[in-house]
Order: sequence, then structure tokens, then C-alpha cells
Amino acid sequence: MAETQARIDVLIRARYSILYVVSWEEDRVEKSLAEIAKRRDKKLYTWSITRGMIEAGGDQADPTTTDPLRALDYVMEESEPALFVLRDFDPFFDDPVVERKLRDVARGLRASYKTLIIVSPVLKIPDHLAKDITVIDYPLPEAEDLSKLLDGIVRQVEDNPSIRIELDDDGREQVVKAALGLTAAEAENVFAKALVLNSALDVSDIEVVLAEKEQIIRKSGILEFYSASERFAEIGGLDALKSWLRKRGNAFSERAREFGLPEPKGVLLIGVQGCGKSLSAKAVSGFWHLPLLRLDVGSVFAGVVGSSEQNMRRAIGLAESIAPCILWLDELEKGFAGTQSSSFSDAGTTARVFGSFITWLQEKTKPVFVIATANDITALPPELMRKGRFDEIFFIDLPSLEERKEIFRIHLAKRDRDPAAFDLDELSAVAENFAGAEIEQVVVSGLYDAFDEDRGLTGEDLIRNVKNTVPLSATRKEDLDALRDWARTRARHASIDSDADETDERKIEF
Ligand SMILES: Nc1ncnc2c1ncn2[C@@H]1O[C@H](COP(=O)(O)OP(=O)(O)OP(=O)(O)O)[C@@H](O)[C@H]1O
Ligand SMILES: [Mg+2]
Repeated sequence: MAETQARIDVLIRARYSILYVVSWEEDRVEKSLAEIAKRRDKKLYTWSITRGMIEAGGDQADPTTTDPLRALDYVMEESEPALFVLRDFDPFFDDPVVERKLRDVARGLRASYKTLIIVSPVLKIPDHLAKDITVIDYPLPEAEDLSKLLDGIVRQVEDNPSIRIELDDDGREQVVKAALGLTAAEAENVFAKALVLNSALDVSDIEVVLAEKEQIIRKSGILEFYSASERFAEIGGLDALKSWLRKRGNAFSERAREFGLPEPKGVLLIGVQGCGKSLSAKAVSGFWHLPLLRLDVGSVFAGVVGSSEQNMRRAIGLAESIAPCILWLDELEKGFAGTQSSSFSDAGTTARVFGSFITWLQEKTKPVFVIATANDITALPPELMRKGRFDEIFFIDLPSLEERKEIFRIHLAKRDRDPAAFDLDELSAVAENFAGAEIEQVVVSGLYDAFDEDRGLTGEDLIRNVKNTVPLSATRKEDLDALRDWARTRARHASIDSDADETDERKIEF
């Protein structure tokens, strides 16, 4: 937090005239600004539409200042060094007079010791003002801040004999960690709730805090906490991908840092529908014991909740506050599709959001591992595939003969059938060109048939269902060929460890 405060302080001293702080936490931001004002010996004013301009610790400055234009006049007229905090000013940007006036203010303030600071949960800057305003994303509270908050609450109830505080340092740390990603107000509420529920603060409250966080994150509408139960053993084939991921299992540990390993950035999984992309993403979370956050790329851009830019920032901010974690962007092409062409249709929003995502991906310092999945590479912007964005791009093809056998085995066993009782070689052979999801469907349909006739599942049930299914790969062969062609030179095959082949190839080249 101190870091953000220092950043704002620098901008104020460097005479940036208008700052735009994006945060839901007015109180926290204003408290921090008050500290800056005090340190720099400046007045502090806050403005809101309901009360007009008010000096900190003083009375209303002037009742007419509820009018936004008058408020801006007031800013210009003040002769002493001051910070002016404008709460929720962004709706007035739509008024061309206000917009123009802000530009005048921006110019006027540069030669003064005054700074205008807009604080709002939504980021909305009209194009005309883009160059006059500097945006600051106010980060969510860090562990240290939340720890202080918890201390405060504990202190309040310390003398109350009916409340037990039974948290050792370890438990405390876990409660605080569970609250990461919440605003200060949200965290305070949830700590209080945890206390009230059982008149105690103990390790059982970790669950309370986590459940509440899940709720809050879900409410944000863009991220979803995914409690993944999938395991690696449930993925048939994809050996190269699995071994790549296995190798990086401990890469987020302190020991890996000391050894000099960089934190893995992320991986892009491209491939045929129903072949285990989403399944792999879920399994990694279980395997690495890291929380999985699913980002709904579609809704980021749908604009149902807030602007797309805002949504992307909030999602990234949340993921970073929970780090180490996995951020899963499923069906990437749905959001970033046609970044180039849509720059005309949606005034460049998609391209801009995409650009900031790419930059974050490349420069992020927090351990957020990104797993992105996509079916259709033609819809993805080429910048995404450039070196340095993802650690690796994997291509997931239709399962091979051996892999199909494994997938049959997994799905039979999952439904309490003994795989050894079936001729997996034959099944796998007839199910040529079937995707994993289609094989699963064959098993399920077979079970329905058997259940209907009140008997056990037989190999014939499965074979019949294979024959009755036209795999997607047959109807969309051209798409598949194009994808394979693309992947041959640009992606690593998820099933075949290519290291051996690679050395061969090099020998030929020399
Ligand atoms: N390699 C596999 N091993 C075991 N099961 C698989 C495999 N591939 C797919 N399945 C089964 O098919 C289901 C659907 O697969 P998944 O959702 O991972 O496909 P996808 O590649 O994400 O497809 P889409 O492009 O349609 O999103 C899985 O939940 C799983 O039950
Ligand atoms: Mg999927």
C-alpha cells in the first residue's frame, strides 16, 4: 500500500494535474491522500454531488459547489496548495461543458500546487481527456493491511469473556490469506461475521472467510472460483503436456526461487474440441494445489457488468491478490476474436483490453499462472503467440490409438465398470478420429442402453454406439487439417515428447 501512496505522492509533486484513482474503497484512498496532504502541508478538499466541496475537518465550503462546474471554478480559485478529491465525478464527463472545463483546469493546475483527484470504482475517460488524466489502479489490501484490520477487531473483543480467540500464528496467517482479494470493508465484515457465528475466532473461520470470498468474487460476475476435483490420472494421453506441467509443480516455491528458476508465466492450449483442454486446466489446479479462477472472457467483453477495461483490470487485480493461483481463460477466442477488425467496430476497446492483457502477461511479477485455451487460432491475434508471452504453446490433437484406449479405460472405471472386461484394443480401433468427449459419450450412451434393457454393459453396446456416432472431426475435417498445419510449426504436440525428434532434425540440418 505504501508503494501506491508513494507513487501518488510522486505524481502530485511532479505536477500531474488530474489523477484518476480506480477503487471501490473511497475511505482507504482518502485516508491515504489525507496522509499525503498532511506530509506536504496541503489543504485537502473532498467533493460530492450531495454535499459540494468540503475542506477536511471543516465545514461546507460553499453550497453552490454541488454544481460540478462551480466545483471546478472553486478549484481554480483556491490560492493555497491543495488536493481536491472528487467522488464519483465520472458521470459528468458526458457534459461537453464539464469536459472542456476539465481540460482548462488541467492546464491551469500545472502552474500551481493544486491537484485534482477523481476517485471512482469505474474507469471512464472521454477520449478528449485521455492525455490530461493519469490513471492509478488502487490495489486491494495486502496481507499486512488485512492483518492490522484483524488485530483491530481482535482488540475490540479481547475483554469480552464470551468470545474466545484461539488462533496461533499459523492459523492467523491462514485467515488473513483467505481474505486476500477482498476490499478492506469486505474483509472487516467477514471477520466480524466469522466472530459472531460461533462466538470465537479459530481455524474453523478460514472456511467462513473462504466461502464469503467465493460469494463476493462470484458477484463480480467475471471471475469464478473453481473447486477442481479433477486429477491428472483422469486425463488419458497428453503425456508431453502432463510431464511439462509435472516438472513445474514446485516452481512457485521459495526453494525454486533460491535455485534461480523463474516463475512459470503460463501456457496456451490449442486444439480440437472435446480433447481435454478444459479438463487439463482443471487438473493442473488439483495437481499443483493452487486455487483456480476461471475468467469468463465472453462476459469481460459483453459489458454486462461495467466496461471491458474495468473488468479486465479487476479480474487481474483479484487474481494477483490471491496469488499464487491459476487464472484460467477458457475459450479465449470468444473474447479476443478479431482484435484487429473489431478495433473499428467497438472504438478499439477490444484491441486496447487485449493489449493491456498481453502487457500484463509479459510483465507480471505476481505468481499468477495463466492457462488459456482456444479452439480456433484464426480468431486469435498473432501477437499472442509471440515468444515470451506464454512459456509454451501446446497443440492437443485427436487422441491416438493408445490414447483412446486409455480414455475408454478411464471413463469405464469412472462409472464403476471393470475396463479389463472389455476389448479395449478393438474399441479403440473402431473409435478412430473420436475425441475424448465423444468416447465419454459412447460410454454413457452404452450405459443407458444397458440400463433400459435391465442388464450389464457389454462391449457390443459400446461398439454399436461408436458406429452410430459421426465424430465432429469427420464433419469438420478442413478446419482440423488447417489447425494441424498451423500447429506443426508453431506449437508443441501435447501427446508426443518431441525432444527426441528434435535432436534428429538438427542432425539432418547440419
Ligand atoms: N484426454 C482425455 N482423457 C479423459 N477424458 C477426456 C479427455 N479428453 C476429453 N475427455 C472428456 O471429455 C470432456 C470434455 O473435455 P474438455 O472439456 O476438456 O474439452 P475441451 O478440449 O475443453 O473442448 P472444447 O474445445 O469444446 O472446450 C472431459 O470432461 C472428459 O470427461
Ligand atoms: Mg473447453
